[in-house]
Amino acid sequence: MILAIETSCDETAAALLDSSGRLRANVISSQAELHARFGGVVPEVASRRHLELIEPVVREAMEEAGATLEQLDSIAVTQGPGLIGALLVGISAAKAIAWARGLPLVPVDHLLGHVAALYLEPVALQPPFLCLLTSGGHTLLLDVREHTAFQLLGTTLDDAAGEAFDKGARLLGLGYPGGAALDRLAREGDPGAYRFPVARLDGLDFSFSGLKTALFYEVRDLEPAELERRRADLAASYQHAIVRALVERTLQAAERIGARQIAVAGGVAANSELRKALAEAALAPIELCTDNAAMIASAARYLKPMQPPGYLDLDAYASRQLA
Ligand code: KG4
Ligand code: ZN
Repeated sequence: MILAIETSCDETAAALLDSSGRLRANVISSQAELHARFGGVVPEVASRRHLELIEPVVREAMEEAGATLEQLDSIAVTQGPGLIGALLVGISAAKAIAWARGLPLVPVDHLLGHVAALYLEPVALQPPFLCLLTSGGHTLLLDVREHTAFQLLGTTLDDAAGEAFDKGARLLGLGYPGGAALDRLAREGDPGAYRFPVARLDGLDFSFSGLKTALFYEVRDLEPAELERRRADLAASYQHAIVRALVERTLQAAERIGARQIAVAGGVAANSELRKALAEAALAPIELCTDNAAMIASAARYLKPMQPPGYLDLDAYASRQLA
């Protein structure tokens, strides 16, 4: 049985996965409300909140699984990329539990974790596949050849797709993080009402900053009453432009590498229009798209554990290392 901990951003999460690959507990405590009034995650506030939540969240996961510490075989934890202070809370907790029990520790890359959400039931995907990994911090096209090895085919040159959703949501007065709210509002609007630009770049990279600027100008030029009336149309058109960019590039990448299977993971993979547009693809289950520890446990199954005391000086990293 693996106990996994994830604290890379504003979710404090713990999960238990048994040796047959069955998820026994998946507890997520979101701090989104805490950060909403600042319009984004405040790193120092996030670290402090993780510190308060980590113990109750781990306890709750253990209870949900009906597991005791004696039943644990290893501890997995997100090492990066993410907010250093936030990551260190999870890493310290994981080290403490592992060290106290004499257990191995498995450091897991957060992005590999998002991909590994696809290895869990009911999707239970096997490599090779092309993965669109689209979250608040990253937009990556990955050629996944083995469970833990992939090659980067494309990435964003500016904002991540989730960031574009969140910034658009903010301009439309939907609060933070607004991706899911924008998705809901878009269902009431006409995706063809506005033509937002999709960046045309060579290769397989993305760019979303022009799109956000285009929405900014549309919103700025509308009277408040008119804006209220057009909000759903703006949301639908804006979302449509992001989804179109993601889908186009993904299909191009699939063609280029001759991929037989396409998969989508990460927070933005929860988007309803994207899921419809790539309905043939392997889609991570909605509850495993946004940050969680189940995906970290899943990745840990394919990684080499570190034995005590080697992991005691393990450190967090802030930026992308894989691919
Ligand atoms: O993977 P994730 O939880 O965190 C990162 O690793 O970044 O992704 C969070 C991102 C946020 O930008 C959020 O607005 C976006 O995923 N998101 C969505 C939806 N649900 C979450 N974006 C569009 N539509 C959704 N339904
Ligand atoms: Zn994430």
